[in-house]
Order: sequence, then structure tokens, then C-alpha cells
Amino acid sequence: MFIKPKKMIVANWKMNVTSEKDAERLFLSIKNVVSKLEYTNMICCPPHMYVNQVAQHVSNKNYRVGGQDAYPEESGSRTGETSVLMQKNAGAEYIILGHSERRHLETKLDISRKVTAVLEHGMMPIICVGEEQRDKNWKKNLIQQVRDVFNRVPKKEPENIIVAYEPIWAISSDKKNPATSAEYMEALEVIKKELQKIFKTVAAASKIRFLYGGSLDDKNIEDFLKNAEVDGFLVGRVSHDPRILMTMFRLIEDHVQKELFAPKEE
Ligand code: 13P
Repeated sequence: MFIKPKKMIVANWKMNVTSEKDAERLFLSIKNVVSKLEYTNMICCPPHMYVNQVAQHVSNKNYRVGGQDAYPEESGSRTGETSVLMQKNAGAEYIILGHSERRHLETKLDISRKVTAVLEHGMMPIICVGEEQRDKNWKKNLIQQVRDVFNRVPKKEPENIIVAYEPIWAISSDKKNPATSAEYMEALEVIKKELQKIFKTVAAASKIRFLYGGSLDDKNIEDFLKNAEVDGFLVGRVSHDPRILMTMFRLIEDHVQKELFAPKEE
């Protein structure tokens, strides 16, 4: 049986850390706590120029580094781009792709080419999908996003694929408006059904890991832990707040421990 690894928190720093000193301070402020976690991994996704610096400090299996985007070709005349290979050589093992804050800069084809390149380099794509609004077409739009990415990518390694459901209306750039665990579960069902069709078998699709992202913090994480089938979380606003992250780690650890040692029903 395929056993999914630990829960993960993916910290998308976005463009909120602006110097090497700040990147270092933030990373070091949580490193020790993360190294002691039993059931949680942290994937830290700094801006491209700090990936190498953060990766150099990684000496613990709980702590990994990711990029916030990457260009699929390895090298060439592409002014301003950072390739998947460059991210890999800098120490990234994961790449966030298709984030809603970038989708206006790239086509559907760009996103699937990036996913393919990440997989071909033996790295893990964190693919963001999510509807703009919960209107009458939201399910149709979500299904289309899933098809646009997955119809074109290799189907060989579902265990290396991570899908983050990040509804655009829930991202906290303007104000906090998180989805509930029930809304997440509704979307998860839609996404999984589509992935099962694309990957042809339920077994293959069930190896893909799913994250929730959108205004998640220490106040609402328990709703997801208790009531949702979730492998982890993609966080933005709180990704550079060590105090809130610590509380979230503790809540995850307590929850997993309780689940593991809860008496099993016959
Ligand atoms: P917030 O956690 O700030 O809503 O951001 C979510 C996000 O966009 C992470 O990629």
C-alpha cells in the first residue's frame, strides 16, 4: 500500500522578504523547531535569489526548499527568466506552479511545460488550481483548470505531484476570507474525480498529495485538520510570521499524534 508522507506546510514567501539578512533571519528563526517535528515537513519557498542561501542551511530532513516559479528550458536567450535546472542547482526540490498571482503572465501550455520540466528533473511540482468565485460555473472552471494542466503532463509519477487547491477568492492579498473545510472538500471531490479520469486509475490518482491554501492561519487550521482530507497547507501571509507558524506546527503535531494513537473502530 502507498503510504503518504508527513503533512507539509509550504511557506510561499512571495515577494515579502527583500534582503539576504531578512531571509536568513526568518529561516533561522524556525529551523530549530522544524528540525524537531515528528509528523510535519516544511517546504520553504523564498524568492529565486535567496533559494541558494536558504538551501545552504538545510541540514534536516524536515526542512526542504522550493522555488516560486521556473522556466522549463534549461538555458538559453531568455532574459529575466530562472530555469528549473537553475533552481535545482541552487537547492530547490519543489516548484510552485500555476499560482493565481502569476497566471496572467503565462498560458495554460506554459504551466504544463513547466510541470513536465520539473518532473523530468526529478523535482516535485506544487500545482495551484482554484476558481475565481463560487458562481454557478465554479466546478466547470475548476475542472477545466485541472484538464489544462494534467492532460499534457507525464502520468508516470503521481507520488511526486502535489496539487494545491487555492481558491482565488480566499487568498488574503486584500482581506482574509478563508474557505471552510467543507468548501475545500467539495472542491477536492471535483479535482480528484477529474484526476482519476486523467490518470486512468483511482490508485494512481490517490498517490497525488493535496494541499489547501488561502488565508490559512493558526485560527482556522484545526477546521481542516479535523474535518478535511488534507496532506498539508500552502501559506502566504503567515509564511513569514514565525510565531504563527510555530502554533500551526504544534496543532498539526498534536492532531496527527492523536489520530495515530486513537483506538481503532472494529
Ligand atoms: P495567503 O495565505 O496570504 O492567503 O496566501 C495564500 C497563497 O497565495 C499561498 O500561495
